[in-house]
Amino acid sequence: MAGGPIVILTGAGISRESGLETFRDKDGLWSRVSIDEVATPEAFARDSERVHAFYNARRRQLLNPEVQPNAAHRALAELERGYPGDVLLVTQNIDDLHERGGSVAPQHMHGELLKARCTCCGRTTPWRDDLATTTRCPACDHSGGMRPHVVWFGEIPLSMERIQQALICCELFISIGTSGQVYPAAGFVAEARAAGARTVELNLERSVGPGLFDQQVEGSASEIVPAFVASLLTVTNTQ
Ligand code: APR
Repeated sequence: MAGGPIVILTGAGISRESGLETFRDKDGLWSRVSIDEVATPEAFARDSERVHAFYNARRRQLLNPEVQPNAAHRALAELERGYPGDVLLVTQNIDDLHERGGSVAPQHMHGELLKARCTCCGRTTPWRDDLATTTRCPACDHSGGMRPHVVWFGEIPLSMERIQQALICCELFISIGTSGQVYPAAGFVAEARAAGARTVELNLERSVGPGLFDQQVEGSASEIVPAFVASLLTVTNTQ
């Protein structure tokens, strides 16, 4: 498949070695905080200060200088630069480590922690400070309607049309650092497979869908992703 289109899906596992927590590992975020308290539109309507506090803490953690992209993020950016065909990077992560690792246009299907959205005018603004119920929208000056630009459970993920288009014509689908438990992302491997793509999982442990991957490489992302990218670029660029 010299140069055939590639779709990559990443999850929290790719950012784990950068110091950001995953969700469903034993020490993951959802082992300490309930999704229903902080990650649904109902939670925000019920107690928006509680939701702001949760995302403010995660935003501050992401902006900690000790949190930097790791070798896996950089390897995917190298793949984007060195691969002759199309590469679409789709991430479930709301951090900006793919961008800081050199990726050009990751599709943040679950939104971005460093952006805020006004529920009054709908405008999205880059945001690195805390959000509160009193925060004013820079565009319409309405106060009290700013929310994290994050897709909560029960909401529709972003960029789905572009992602679906890429899945039906990709020749290689690579899943990295995701437990494959949240749809629609968890269904992407089956869609790519149905379209005839080779499917590869690079993960600390096999996810719930071992029957769907042609190849599964187990290990830490910062080790197995650079190795996989190097081998892929070598094979592709010598054909
Ligand atoms: N290297 C590679 N994989 C790792 C590493 C690592 N260093 N550490 C953990 N993993 C793997 C875990 O084995 C697990 O399979 O990363 C996966 C993380 O799974 P989750 O915590 O469920 O995260 P994710 O799949 O991204 O969650 C999907 O759920 O809560 C929502 O919106 C949230 O985007 C998130 C979505």
